[in-house]
Amino acid sequence: MHDRKRNPFTKALVAAFITLGVLGMGSTPAKAGTTVWGADYFPKVTLIDQDGKPQRFFEDLIQDKVVAVNFIFTSCKDVCPLETARLREVQEILGDRLGKDIFFLSISIDPQRDTPEVLKAYAKRYQAGPGWTFLTGKMEDITQLRYKLGLLSLDSDPANLKGHSMSLIIGNQSSGQWMKRSPYENAHVLATQMGSWLSSWKLPSKPGLEYANAPKVRNLSLGENLFRTRCGACHTLGEEGGGAIAKQAIAPDLLNVTRTRDKVWLARWLTEPDKMLAERDPQALALQARYNNLVMPNLSLGQEDTHAVMAFLEEESQRVEQQRGQTAKVALVPCH
Ligand code: HEC
Repeated sequence: MHDRKRNPFTKALVAAFITLGVLGMGSTPAKAGTTVWGADYFPKVTLIDQDGKPQRFFEDLIQDKVVAVNFIFTSCKDVCPLETARLREVQEILGDRLGKDIFFLSISIDPQRDTPEVLKAYAKRYQAGPGWTFLTGKMEDITQLRYKLGLLSLDSDPANLKGHSMSLIIGNQSSGQWMKRSPYENAHVLATQMGSWLSSWKLPSKPGLEYANAPKVRNLSLGENLFRTRCGACHTLGEEGGGAIAKQAIAPDLLNVTRTRDKVWLARWLTEPDKMLAERDPQALALQARYNNLVMPNLSLGQEDTHAVMAFLEEESQRVEQQRGQTAKVALVPCH
C-alpha cells in the first residue's frame, strides 16, 4: 500500500473506523476542544455557496458540527448522482436535525463549470433542503481540502474527474471522530451513524442492543443487493406514500417495468443510459425531460448484474402485485 502517501487524517479515518467497528459506541471520545483536527489542521480556505455567499471552511462550515462532506461535480454521469441521491435519502430520515446539529457539504471538484447558479439548480433537482450546502471555489483550495480530508492521494491528478474518490467523510469536528463511508451504504445506517453515534459518543449503548440479539439477516440475491445499493436511492419499486412520493419526483417507480418496456431496450438502458441519452434515444429523452433533466447514471453494471437486476425487478413486481391483490380481496369482504 502507499502508506507513505497517506496523510495523518487518512490514517485517523482508518483508526476511527476500527474504533467504531471493534470497540463499539461506548469508546471514549476525544474531549471537545482537544482534538488534533482543529482550526490549524484544516486549510484556511473560503468557499462560495450556492447562493454566492462566502463560507469559511472551518469556522462557518464544520466547527462544532456533525457533518457529511463529499466531493462531486454536477456533470458527473456515474457515481456522484447516486451519492447525492443517497444523501437526499439520509436527509429525509434525519428530518429537521439537518440544519440544526447535522450538516451536509457537497463541494464541487469542477469549480469552473459548477458556478453557484449551476449548483443551485443541481441542489433543487435533488430536493436538497436547508442544512445541505453546495460549494464551489478556487481549484487549488478545493484540492487542498480533498487532500486534507483524506480523499485525494498526493500522486493522483486533481483534474481527473473520472478517477475521483466517491467516498463520503462523516465526522464530528469537536470530538475529532471522522469516518470514511461509501455511497452504496444503506441510508438508515448512515443516518444512525451521523444522528446517533457521532452525536453522542459519551452515551453507553442501550441495554439489549447486542449483535447476539440482532434478527437474522436474510441472504440477499445479487439482483436485490444491487437494487438496494445502486438503484434504491433514486427508485421505488411499488412503495407508496411518505418517502416514496419524494423519491418518485426524482426518478420513476419501477413496478412492472420489465413488462412495460422492451427487454432489449431495458437491458441496454441499465448498462449504458448515458450513451442512449447521447444518441438521443427517443424514449430515454422523453423520460429525461419528465424527470427534470436529472440523469440516470451509468453504474457500470456487467451483463450478469443487469440480468440479475432485471430478474429482481420482475420477481419483486410480482410479489407486490400479489400482495396488493390480497389486500384488495380483504377490503372487498362484506362486514357482516
Ligand atoms: C441518481 C438516481 C438514479 C439511480 C441511482 C438509478 N436511476 Fe434509474 N432512472 C433515474 C432517472 C432520473 C430516470 C429517468 C430517465 C432520466 O432522467 O435519465 C431513470 C430511469 C430508469 C428506468 C426507465 C423507467 C421507465 O419508466 O422506463 C429504469 C428501468 C431504471 N431507471 C432502472 C434503474 C436501475 C435498475 C438502477 C440501479 C441499477 C437505477 N435505475 C439507478 C435515476 C436513477
